[in-house]
Amino acid sequence: MHVGARPVLVDINPHDFNISVEAVRKAITPRTKVIMPVDFAGMPCDMDELNAIVNEENIRKLFKPGNEIQQQLGRILILSDAAHSIGAQYKGKRTGSLCDVAVFSFHAVKNLTTAEGGAVALNLPAPFDNEAVYKYLCIKTLHGQNKDALAKTQRGAWRYDILEPGYKCNMMDIQAAIGLVELERYDEDNLVRRKQIAERYIKALSVDPRFELPVFETADKISCYHLFPLRIRGCNEEQRDAIIDAIFARDISVNVHFIPLPLLSFYKSEGYVMSDYPVAYDNYSREISLPLYYNLSDEDVDRVIAAVFASVEEVLKA
Ligand SMILES: Cc1ncc(COP(=O)(O)O)c(C=O)c1O
Repeated sequence: MHVGARPVLVDINPHDFNISVEAVRKAITPRTKVIMPVDFAGMPCDMDELNAIVNEENIRKLFKPGNEIQQQLGRILILSDAAHSIGAQYKGKRTGSLCDVAVFSFHAVKNLTTAEGGAVALNLPAPFDNEAVYKYLCIKTLHGQNKDALAKTQRGAWRYDILEPGYKCNMMDIQAAIGLVELERYDEDNLVRRKQIAERYIKALSVDPRFELPVFETADKISCYHLFPLRIRGCNEEQRDAIIDAIFARDISVNVHFIPLPLLSFYKSEGYVMSDYPVAYDNYSREISLPLYYNLSDEDVDRVIAAVFASVEEVLKA
């Protein structure tokens, strides 16, 4: 919206909260410039299918470039919202390597954090030079300057230039230092513990058919266990809200991922209507995200499980 684009929302899959490839296909018009799939909860989207769609001959023919860069690409760009999915795998490859551009979030609630921040992974096809695009983005993030402070300390390198009225949104070295430590312990420590927690929930909750459990592994995909989006079968939004209240009454904090955009004031005012996305509404109305973070002990997990059972019993039997 900041660049004058109009986001077109499409519905999701019932099984994993991710964008429906068929819904994407139906929404493509000559005005479509980019597809932005979200790897919800850390589960990668159907990237082969999405990459295939934008490369289909009839869809390439439909594409109308609006500027020189779009002309060079010659097709719809895939810009993956990989905010949740660092470390997740799709057909043996990590997210960030699966499409044109992927963006990770290192916000405080994410699996790998730098307190605030993120990373952009570039895999643009020829004729794009990803190194050059990276340098261009660095200029944008540092006041439009072509050199950072460290580069200027080198002998004979003090001169710099300002190339455009850029922004100030570079990652600080202190944040990067936190990120490097987090990265070091990510695969062998953080991810391992997150998986253990998710498996403990699954083992305990799978005995009760009222619980629809998230899937973390399929033949093609391995999640990075970012969220535990539990759904309650046969409950409506009001009952879900009451279950959340009952869980909070047991001194446990839970959350909902996410409130669909058409239910939020701004998007409502832009004309988006919830009934156009029935699967998203159904998933949302029955969803409760259980706590899932590295420092959660097995005893904590068991307390959450007991609270969930008791709260569901209290509300759905009432
Ligand atoms: C799916 C998704 N996309 C994007 C973002 C934005 O990330 P950031 O806050 O790092 O810009 C978030 C973070 O909350 C997210 O959950």
